[in-house]
Amino acid sequence: MLDQNLIDPDRLPIHVAIIMDGNGRWAQEKNRPRLYGHKVGVESVQKIVSCASELGIKVLTLYAFSSENWKRPSDEVSGLMALLKGYLLSELAKMVQNRVRLVSIGNTQKLPRDVREVLEKTMQETAGNDGLILNLALSYGGRDEIIRAVRNISAEVVAERLSLDEIDENLITTHLYTAGLPEPDLLIRTGGEARLSNFLLWQASYAEIYFTDTMWPDFRQEAFYDAIAEYQGRERRFGRVSAQLGSG
Ligand code: FPP
Repeated sequence: MLDQNLIDPDRLPIHVAIIMDGNGRWAQEKNRPRLYGHKVGVESVQKIVSCASELGIKVLTLYAFSSENWKRPSDEVSGLMALLKGYLLSELAKMVQNRVRLVSIGNTQKLPRDVREVLEKTMQETAGNDGLILNLALSYGGRDEIIRAVRNISAEVVAERLSLDEIDENLITTHLYTAGLPEPDLLIRTGGEARLSNFLLWQASYAEIYFTDTMWPDFRQEAFYDAIAEYQGRERRFGRVSAQLGSG
């Protein structure tokens, strides 16, 4: 039985972002193909989405496919695309029922056409939902995102629609894929590595980062609760000192 008392419902992270790492190693340890790890990883996705939705977390961002993942062997890439499409098709009814809204970040134009179409359809059909925002990072890279923002802002400056002194944090934020979403409060990385791997580079500036050795296929409700409990035990100072907190 889970110790739900570990979690204070009044101090939940608003936005949780997850680097779902360790599928391949988890499978290889079991002498199974890497794709089997991704397949069981989809079950973890289903569990964590339900859990985040039930807890009342507002945004869950999952790093499902990075801009660098295209370099993997083609059978792994096509296997991941098939899993993504299958997930979207099989979860739509549950998303509608649980009022989950699906959005995505990344260069989704690079996705195979059939996957892109299912993604767009799922986003449209859940657009009116007011529950958890499930944000899938697909063909996403933090540096790509920043380059794209710089290009778009520069084009506005060149066109004299924007002056240089109007460029501030807020303006940059509105040119990122995540425009309109709050910054992540808690960033979880499974699989034992301790790096950001080009994920939410701008947005994660003040996120609490939680690394765990648990491999993604084993990361289920209890592990998620542990991460949130650890987050709640930390003091977020945003560059200030303890004594200043709570005084605005
Ligand atoms: C990292 O494990 C994981 C990925 C590159 C893909 C994550 C994808 C899924 C969990 C399934 C599809 C997603 C959704 C949202 C349905 P790795 O292969 O890098 O593991 P390793 O470090 O052990 O090799």
